[in-house]
Amino acid sequence: MLHPDISLPRLIAHRGLSSRAPENTLVAVRAAHNAGCSWVELDVQLLGDGTPVIWHDAGIRRCSDARGRLADLDLPAARRLDVGGWFSDAFRGERIATLDEMLTLIDELGMGLNLELKVNRGRNAEALVKASLPATLEALPPERLIVSSFNDQALSQARRLAPASRLALGVLFEGVGRGWQKRCAGLEAYSIHADWRRLNRRGAEAVKGDGYALLCYTPNDPTAFTHQWQWGVDAAISDVPDRFIDHLS
Ligand code: G3P
Ligand code: MG
Repeated sequence: MLHPDISLPRLIAHRGLSSRAPENTLVAVRAAHNAGCSWVELDVQLLGDGTPVIWHDAGIRRCSDARGRLADLDLPAARRLDVGGWFSDAFRGERIATLDEMLTLIDELGMGLNLELKVNRGRNAEALVKASLPATLEALPPERLIVSSFNDQALSQARRLAPASRLALGVLFEGVGRGWQKRCAGLEAYSIHADWRRLNRRGAEAVKGDGYALLCYTPNDPTAFTHQWQWGVDAAISDVPDRFIDHLS
């Protein structure tokens, strides 16, 4: 078999259970686990000193108590941020998670991880992959890991470091348009991750017909997301996976 034998769940908690806890934190992953999710999607990028941390934006303003760019912080400075209080008082004092800490937690909980390599503008894709992929491959078995990105340089670098039998790669698309087959074949991709609002039946069926797993981000209304299951979508990456549970057959 070409790819790891991944038993993909129908629902993946986006940035952890980000509707109930501050996104991309240890507490959000615990919340996802407590809500019955077996997989989480998380974003990884580098601090200025090269430490991989779990974080979505290029800036720190939206999800912390400070302002500036993540790339301007070293680990001690990043540790001083409060990354929970912006969400609610109940989470005040939450600290940014390094990739290593997050991998330890995910493995402890026996969860699966879709790790998105987040290459924000001006950042170095290859440095991100070199700093984050070896530890990730070490921490989690291939059956519980998908590494994804919008950035082809990051995906190609990841593929150079690990063969398809060891690493499932997910290719992120806004719309699955012309050229998608070439892009995915070249990367020996396992899955395609599409914006659910831009996916249509024909695109979904083509993706499934070529044997790829098909994931959609970020549907949050289970009633609006019913055709997509019929088109063959395997998994929804949602902020509110708990809302979907009753709608799954
Ligand atoms: O990986 C799916 C989704 O997370 C991609 O978009 O901006 O939420 O990281 P974003
Ligand atoms: Mg993401």
